[in-house]
Amino acid sequence: MIERTLLLVKPDGVRRGLIGEVISRLERKGFKIVALKMVIMNKETAEEFYSVHKDKPFYKDLVEFITSGPIVGIIIEGDSAISVARMIIGTTDARKAQPGTIRGDFGLSIQENVVHASDSLESYNREYKIIFRDDEIINY
Ligand code: CMP
Repeated sequence: MIERTLLLVKPDGVRRGLIGEVISRLERKGFKIVALKMVIMNKETAEEFYSVHKDKPFYKDLVEFITSGPIVGIIIEGDSAISVARMIIGTTDARKAQPGTIRGDFGLSIQENVVHASDSLESYNREYKIIFRDDEIINY
């Protein structure tokens, strides 16, 4: 099924010059980029984006981290985009992520794990609206 999903290159990924690497891997896999944007999340936006984690012990640090510099929002489109993007980025803890995945190849931290990808259609529908307006997504 053709789906869309949201990815973020997180502040560590941007600082380390990995924007191109992330986009390149998504394009090489065959996904179409339908929206792209660099932003700096403010605290309120970050708290909303990560609201499902608000009771977790790492929530405060996570909000601080995700607002610590520019991030790049990417919406891709393609077959099974949600599950395939999760496979491409690897498991949350970059120390345990498989080599060949983005986190497996570029990360060594559970918090600073280079990228984010929506974990379900429900998450995508909630998350993309926090970063993009509907008229910023290109239908082509
Ligand atoms: P992400 O896929 O963006 O979703 C939630 C984020 O919280 C996750 O990536 C990590 O950056 C962070 N995270 C998840 N678990 C932990 C943890 N145990 N300690 C610190 N940060 C975490």
